[in-house]
Amino acid sequence: MSDVLARLRALQSADAPDTGGRTLAYVYDSGIAEADRVGRAAVAAYAGSNGLDPTAFPSLLQMENEVCGFTLDLISAPPGAVGTLTSGGTESVLLAVKGARDAHSSTKPNLVLPSTGHPAFHKAGHYFGVEVRIVPVRSDHRADPEATRAAVDADTVLVVGSAPSYAHGVMDPIPELAAIAAEAGARCHVDACIGGFVLPYAQRLGRAVPPWTFEVAGVSSISLDLHKYAYAPKGASMLVHRTSELRRPQYFATAAWPGYTLVNPTMQSTKSGGPLAGAWAVLQTITDAGYLELARTTFAGVDRLVAAINASAAIRLVAEPDSTLVAFTTDSSCDVFTIADLMHAAGWWVQPQLSYDAEPANLHLTLSAATDVDAFIEALEAAVEEAVGRGPIVVDPGIVKFVESLDPSALSDADFDGLLAAVGMAGGEGIGLPEEMAQINALLDIASPAMREALLTVFMDRLLRAQRSAH
Ligand SMILES: Cc1ncc(COP(=O)(O)O)c(C=O)c1O
Repeated sequence: MSDVLARLRALQSADAPDTGGRTLAYVYDSGIAEADRVGRAAVAAYAGSNGLDPTAFPSLLQMENEVCGFTLDLISAPPGAVGTLTSGGTESVLLAVKGARDAHSSTKPNLVLPSTGHPAFHKAGHYFGVEVRIVPVRSDHRADPEATRAAVDADTVLVVGSAPSYAHGVMDPIPELAAIAAEAGARCHVDACIGGFVLPYAQRLGRAVPPWTFEVAGVSSISLDLHKYAYAPKGASMLVHRTSELRRPQYFATAAWPGYTLVNPTMQSTKSGGPLAGAWAVLQTITDAGYLELARTTFAGVDRLVAAINASAAIRLVAEPDSTLVAFTTDSSCDVFTIADLMHAAGWWVQPQLSYDAEPANLHLTLSAATDVDAFIEALEAAVEEAVGRGPIVVDPGIVKFVESLDPSALSDADFDGLLAAVGMAGGEGIGLPEEMAQINALLDIASPAMREALLTVFMDRLLRAQRSAH
């Protein structure tokens, strides 16, 4: 038994660390050991219980209502507003889109999304047959109300805004978007998956936060993730509707079989009670006053980081951050991909974002309370200096030509093996990543979005094929 757990720990040691504050994407670290301990113990205690039937597991019902109650208070929810616990931001978004579609009479539904909206909305459109109308953002990276108005029509079921956007960390003009939606008879969803548990505290700390909650007339639903800035274990988000009537189309019920009558408020049917118990336990441990302190620490770090980036000659902010997400890019003296590799070698995980439209490639940083920002800045300054010394990355023109010759809609295994060989990587099932990713990221950066999707899908599929040999 203990041997199995020892092997598990050994396997995990190769992963990005989820505590310690050195992973600036994917994980959120409060730095409060007791919150981690209690949250994980709660997940374990409820790992076998089943949220499918809250009458059999009444403690899950009680915890869900308590977690929702805490959240409703944070986002100025009016009396009658209701929350639902989901498995993550994507499920919250999927349900918001499905509910908007099902509540509308259109047979050709569309949703209107700023180009910076999270891809979960693209996925929802794909799954539920809703056309996704992407509206380019303004030069300040925020949704463009005029262009949004032009994209909306009688078949629009949903207008989306982010609070804030993941890629650039800025807030969309929610009052304008909500007014446009209301005029068109459409719903307005605010995607606060990443900002929802930090922006209310930013406001209490006296920072300028543009309006985004249910205070804004016309906002129908808000998603906010407990497994992000509520620092809960993974698998917990919340979708809040202004009224229970707006939530109603989210339910799926059927008695058309000989077994139990199925009634599901979410996509899952059997669902572990673990994430809910984990979120409940972390909220009880950190408490409202604790979240305020965590936000104070995190924003102090954001301010120091912004000042350091502004003071550096070779790097610059993509946008002045409205929240706790920072994106920066380089001038022509160096490459963000080199900086990412150098930071990784120094024990910091930062996330490259490829160029998109006029936006150059940049690095995304999700700041958590546990990040030692001064140590991060020191490592970043050293990495930038070294990257400038190495100069910008040049991708072999032969490889560029090869990629350009490929058809993304029909990328074969042979094409992929050819590309791996060209970049000096071994193919086959046991495909591994090189220590330095800069060349590969630079190659992806010059590929079209369709080619990036095709290459990374084939790559992911290859990773998921080495199954017999792994056994
Ligand atoms: C703004 C926003 N929306 C939605 C999501 C999707 O959340 P998840 O990865 O939990 O499914 C994210 C994730 O980062 C996000 O930042």
